[in-house]
Amino acid sequence: MREKLVQIAIAIAGAALVVLLASVMLLMDGEFPGARAEANAVTFPPIEELEHYTTVERGVSAEHMMTSPEALAALKAGSPVPVGTHMVLVDYRNGKVFRYFVSQKVGEGADEWAFQWFHPDRSIKADENTARCYSCHRSRQDSQFMFTLPEAQAFGS
Ligand code: HEC
Repeated sequence: MREKLVQIAIAIAGAALVVLLASVMLLMDGEFPGARAEANAVTFPPIEELEHYTTVERGVSAEHMMTSPEALAALKAGSPVPVGTHMVLVDYRNGKVFRYFVSQKVGEGADEWAFQWFHPDRSIKADENTARCYSCHRSRQDSQFMFTLPEAQAFGS
């Protein structure tokens, strides 16, 4: 009888631990105040090696979209872009770089993208909440997290 009680107690403690771990993981995955951008997996892109495949004009802003020739070939073929690929939105205001928005493929999975905001001097905007970038772009998971996939596929053809 005593042994049975101990077994039950252990089972309950185990279940509680699982629930606790699951909630911590959920919390860490979600957006919560204070989750601010710092250095993450995203590196500054090799801009000179990238193709400028389309431009989006937004008022005073001209957004030059850029990625690698390898990524453009993969996008055209409908294949996942290589791990490490940078997607870059260079935001020009009055002909000068105002900021760089960068997403980078950080793993094989369709949802393995990371985001970062860089100033013109290539430093990171430390108070940016990059979880917001991710959550908006996640709506495009079927399009490799891209809003300008059709433009990238049409480029050069
Ligand atoms: C509310 C939705 C939303 C948020 C938040 C957002 N984006 Fe975007 N992003 C877009 C849209 C829409 C485009 C297409 C260009 C346009 O319409 O201006 C785009 C384009 C891009 C592109 C060019 C590749 C592509 O997907 O077409 C990059 C790179 C990018 N965003 C990075 C970022 C980064 C970095 C952040 C956060 C600092 C961010 N985005 C936040 C909606 C969003």
